[in-house]
Amino acid sequence: MNRITSLFGITYPIVQGGMVWCSGWRLASAVSNAGGLGLLGAGSMHPDTLREHIRKCRAATSKPFGVNLPLMYPQIDEAMQLVADEGVKIVFTSAGSPKKWTGWLHERGITVVHVVSSSRFAQKAEEAGVDAVVAEGFEAGGHNGREETTTLCLIPAVRRATALPLIAAGGIATGEAMLAVRALGAEGVQIGTRFALTEESSASDVFKNYCLQLEEGDTRLLLKKLAPTRLVKGKFLDAVSVAEASGATEEQLRELLGKGRAKRGIFEGDLEEGELEIGQIASLLKGKGIQPVAEVMDELVQAYENGLKALL
Ligand SMILES: Cc1cc2nc3c(=O)[nH]c(=O)nc-3n(C[C@H](O)[C@H](O)[C@H](O)COP(=O)(O)O)c2cc1C
Repeated sequence: MNRITSLFGITYPIVQGGMVWCSGWRLASAVSNAGGLGLLGAGSMHPDTLREHIRKCRAATSKPFGVNLPLMYPQIDEAMQLVADEGVKIVFTSAGSPKKWTGWLHERGITVVHVVSSSRFAQKAEEAGVDAVVAEGFEAGGHNGREETTTLCLIPAVRRATALPLIAAGGIATGEAMLAVRALGAEGVQIGTRFALTEESSASDVFKNYCLQLEEGDTRLLLKKLAPTRLVKGKFLDAVSVAEASGATEEQLRELLGKGRAKRGIFEGDLEEGELEIGQIASLLKGKGIQPVAEVMDELVQAYENGLKALL
């Protein structure tokens, strides 16, 4: 038991990060059923779809689960109301200021966790009254901090900057990595990449298999003028690199990105035209194949316990 397991009422301090086009009810409920905390990734869901996923998740698990809501979500007011009306008890907010919504969610009895990429943002989240923070290093898949602070540097800095329960994210895919961030002061982990590539993830198998054969260096943080995003090698990454090297403006990058590209890449498996997002740690998973969540959770817990014994 620690502050993270007791905050959420879970067995292991392992959170499955909310992930666009990956974390629907199948993934979230599988992680919750295995003793972690599953999160629905609302970022890629229309409000009606989100409602459906909340209901299906509740039917698939009696354990706690939550919703990740990026604060730049276009219909944020509607989504927040829906989450409260559906009786969701845990909300992870990201990509925005937690100031506006934390109090509102607390008044409705909802636990609030905010994702940050620097100790300054962690302090702001603490001032906003959140119950815990996820500190995410720039190794992570998805959108990232512009400052490019690594998990190894970020976690001890955030530990020093706030007294909040602290969840580490970015580059964690093994029990040994869980142990390492615990040594740095984290009380739990949020894992994205490893869960995005499991059987229960709603990403396309084409995308999963592509990511499961990546080498070190095959992902890069680009699109800093829009929202810094870790992209996987391929045609779209090349197009963005060329545009950025020739000084493309924010507007030009927005045009290049267009609409629906992440859905095409991650959900539909279009490796040519899609936007592919995964974390640096994917290269460590090479050759593992697409595993079920229960097996991944077992491996994480076993390796953590063995690693701890080996250190003593
Ligand atoms: C495909 C993909 C989509 C993601 N989408 C979101 C999102 O919608 N909201 C969010 O807060 N984080 C998102 N993330 C970040 C994860 O929740 C998690 O914090 C991150 O993946 C942790 O680092 P790791 O990938 O090294 O495990 C995404 C990550 C990936 C790989």
